[in-house]
Amino acid sequence: IIAAFQPKLLSGKRVLLTAGPTFEPIDPVRGITNLSSGKMGYALARAAREAGAAVVLVSGPTALAAPYGVRRVDVQTAQQMRDAVLANVAGQDVFVAVAAVADWRVANVSTQKLKKDEDGKAPLLEFEQNPDILAEVAALPVRPYCVGFAAESENLEQYGAAKRVRKNIPLLVGNIGHQTFGRDDNALMLFDAQGHSDLPRADKQTLARQLVREIARRMLQH
Ligand code: CTP
Ligand code: CA
Repeated sequence: IIAAFQPKLLSGKRVLLTAGPTFEPIDPVRGITNLSSGKMGYALARAAREAGAAVVLVSGPTALAAPYGVRRVDVQTAQQMRDAVLANVAGQDVFVAVAAVADWRVANVSTQKLKKDEDGKAPLLEFEQNPDILAEVAALPVRPYCVGFAAESENLEQYGAAKRVRKNIPLLVGNIGHQTFGRDDNALMLFDAQGHSDLPRADKQTLARQLVREIARRMLQH
């Protein structure tokens, strides 16, 4: 009975997230993307909303439905994701960058569908680096509490700690890429200024609820 009168963990707070992959076009019918399913970001958006927050989810292309009560902004490319984040960041209390943003986009995008060459020569793609959305938000003069995600393939302990410092963010959530992409469960390692701790393997919605508690606690101390 008492619990019913307790405010929720994120009551009155505003949370902005990115989730899913980005899609970087090559020509009008082709593009480059990655194996992110969006499941972890969507689970986190749902958990934040359950915890009482007003939630905006900037999402790359996924097969998932927007969680109940969450405002979803659909984008394709990293540049569109950046623009949507910057357009929505004012007044946010928390920014969680879960998206697997393409590090590079194709510089020489063709306006027409590329056709096969008579002599079997393959097209040459050139790349340029995409903006780092998380780093840009973390560098704003008035910024939300910023949380990053990192999918590594090895040396998670070492890379995670270094990435948190490099990105200048208070909390980074690490996982092993090939042990999470597309799956319903995951195992997480949390890196903050104090060191690191584990959230053992569980389904993504359970982990998302635990993560909301970890974020809320740190954000209030911040
Ligand atoms: N991120 C972002 N914009 C980018 C790249 C990454 O917002 N252009 C965010 C991701 O959403 C994630 C965090 O930054 O929260 C870390 O992404 P990651 O790819 O692990 O880091 P990078 O700095 O791109 O380093 P790496 O060379 O290891 O890919
Ligand atoms: Ca990257």
